[in-house]
Amino acid sequence: MLQDKDRIFTNIYGRFDRSLRGAMMRGHWDGTKAILEKGRDRIIEEMKASGLRGRGGAGFPTGLKWSFMPKQSDGRPHYLVVNADESEPGTCKDRDILRHDPHTLIEGCLIAGFAMGAHHAFIYVRGEFIREREALQRAIDECYDAGLIGKNNRHGWDFDIVVHHGAGAYICGEETALLESLEGKKGQPRLKPPFPANMGLYGCPTTVNNVESIAVAPTILRRGAAWFSSFGRENNKGTKLFMISGHVNTPCTVEEEMGIPFRELIERHAGGIRGGWDNLLAVIPGGASCPVVKAEDIIDCPMDFDGLRSVKSSFGTAAVIVMDKSTDIIKAIARLSQFFKHESCGQCTPCREGTGWMWRVMERFVRGEAHKHEIDMLLDVSKQIEGHTICALGDAAAWPVQGLIRNFRHEIECRIDEFSRNAHRVEPVLAAAE
Ligand SMILES: Cc1cc2nc3c(=O)[nH]c(=O)nc-3n(C[C@H](O)[C@H](O)[C@H](O)COP(=O)(O)O)c2cc1C
Ligand code: SF4
Repeated sequence: MLQDKDRIFTNIYGRFDRSLRGAMMRGHWDGTKAILEKGRDRIIEEMKASGLRGRGGAGFPTGLKWSFMPKQSDGRPHYLVVNADESEPGTCKDRDILRHDPHTLIEGCLIAGFAMGAHHAFIYVRGEFIREREALQRAIDECYDAGLIGKNNRHGWDFDIVVHHGAGAYICGEETALLESLEGKKGQPRLKPPFPANMGLYGCPTTVNNVESIAVAPTILRRGAAWFSSFGRENNKGTKLFMISGHVNTPCTVEEEMGIPFRELIERHAGGIRGGWDNLLAVIPGGASCPVVKAEDIIDCPMDFDGLRSVKSSFGTAAVIVMDKSTDIIKAIARLSQFFKHESCGQCTPCREGTGWMWRVMERFVRGEAHKHEIDMLLDVSKQIEGHTICALGDAAAWPVQGLIRNFRHEIECRIDEFSRNAHRVEPVLAAAE
């Protein structure tokens, strides 16, 4: 069981003093200068050795990503961009870092910026996060006043942080759409390559990282890569914020060890399943885009990248959405299809047309007003979207539908049977009336 002494986020529930003074008393901003004095290469090596994988959903190794930035500037500035767009349904950890533990992120920005030769960081905050943005800005202002960041700061690395408020589009969480939006353009993903490390914000070398990925860096560097990698399994190291929502007794966000089995996570932190374990129907383990997993497949599953891949889903952001047997699973997934259709930026035909197509078919499945052969047709449509688009929103829209068909085909068939039974029952009445 992860102990409090090994938790990186010491104020994730906002119970303690959120000011700089409070954060310092909890150990943040301790020895930051000594960390910078290790030099860029050692910091990056340490981050690689820690095994930290990006917490924004894709799980790309953070140290490796930092190492892609050019070692020497060719005259263009380097930028760090922090992705605080957090719009994936079910995901709600970054907002808690911003409003309750913002100094973890600010210190992380300075260290990450230094390691990548960046004197500027931009933090792109989701449009709806107004109070979070205010709390973050307050904390940044405190750091400027205390000489922790800014020009001629006490760490010897000039560093500015700009908070940018988004306008509430899910697609602006995709890193290149985010960069477009930061530049003041329409938030539409760019084709890659070139990758941001070569040609990012304003055409300059840029690294985009999730809030949690950056916020854990200072503690990793203070306590050492060996400490962080002592948690979790090979390839799935460290501690992680899990967000548990849905049909559990006490929904919460909690920092736990990677790889904790699902049952243990729920029993220990979420008060068990509403109505008991026999009442569990299914779980979406990592946010809306991750395929749904049946109860029997997830109960003993290690909650990490490899564990969830082995049950044909993904770890995503660790936003665990629990659904008990009262859930209309077809309706639940149809609602997600509607979300992705609404959020498609419309650049690619398979995504623009396909998300709407999938949603309309899903709506008919909810009523059962369909033919059974349409189940395979929908699967086929989803496969034609997956992997054929500029960004991963197309995949994100396809996977929930694929997960539903893989795991709950019989539910869709039963709904279709029920609809046609009812339709036939009505017919004689109508005939008699005529
Ligand atoms: C449609 C879409 C939405 C995304 N939304 C977010 C988001 O809200 N926050 C985030 O950190 N990453 C999001 N990502 C992932 C980012 O593109 C990027 O991989 C991530 O910010 C990298 O950070 P990391 O390496 O620290 O995980 C999204 C990706 C896609 C395709
Ligand atoms: S996949 Fe969808 S959201 Fe992504 S660029 Fe294409 S149309 Fe836009």
